Amino acid sequence: MNVPQIVSMKGKEKISMLTAYDYTSAKIVDEAGVDVILVGDSLGMVMQGNNSTIPVTIDEMIYHAKMVKQGAKNTLIVVDMPFMSYQADYVEAVRNAGRIVKETGCDAVKLEGGREFAVTINAIVSAGIPVMGHLGLTPQSINIFGSYKARGKSEQEAKKIVEDAKYIQEAGVFSIVLESVPKSLAKEVTNSVSVPTIGIGAGVETDGQVLVFHDMLGFFDDFKAKFVKRYAHLKKEAVEAVKTYTKEVKNSEFPTDEHSYE
Ligand code: KIV
Repeated sequence: MNVPQIVSMKGKEKISMLTAYDYTSAKIVDEAGVDVILVGDSLGMVMQGNNSTIPVTIDEMIYHAKMVKQGAKNTLIVVDMPFMSYQADYVEAVRNAGRIVKETGCDAVKLEGGREFAVTINAIVSAGIPVMGHLGLTPQSINIFGSYKARGKSEQEAKKIVEDAKYIQEAGVFSIVLESVPKSLAKEVTNSVSVPTIGIGAGVETDGQVLVFHDMLGFFDDFKAKFVKRYAHLKKEAVEAVKTYTKEVKNSEFPTDEHSYE
């Protein structure tokens, strides 16, 4: 998968995207035939146990993206630019995006925000690095929003999101994540731009969907957003397996001869 292939899927075939943060999860996602892997800064919550994505650093993103690259041989890999790796100025943003693709071998970066980041997006794309945009609920702005509630519900906010999508398309993004917005607004944005939209909590009318790997497999249960569908309940199964192991160790039922050397 490469960026032009993803762009050409708009209107023809829905794009599936999932997060992965390490070798093993990337291998699962890759083998299952997902189109795009996102090394999301959601790893700050899912991997690190923080209550937001704010503390994640560029070095941590690079560390995880390198592991994902080892496991995913066919999938396009997009890496989140973490908080304060691109906000201060566009020169620093280009350097950090460059570090991400150069040190990890991944394909593209994603950054949150609308028209205020058009210059930054254009500078990164001009350096030869594809950029995915992210509008609607932008979790790096949690301290401005005050909650993870859906965005774009008022007419004014909805209008800004539609306009922002056009601005960042003009700046050069190759696709746009739409997070937690009303499905009618996601449809309007999708019809207003020529690049694919990828929804999370944005209804079925976007050009693709993304979920967090640990959410959709039921591994992460600190909280569950309305838009998360659990396709498995692996945490429950893991706890049961670990309980059985502990019981067998205590009762000297493990290891048997099958797992011992003569
Ligand atoms: O960090 C992440 O996982 C994301 C998705 C929720 C789109 O940005």
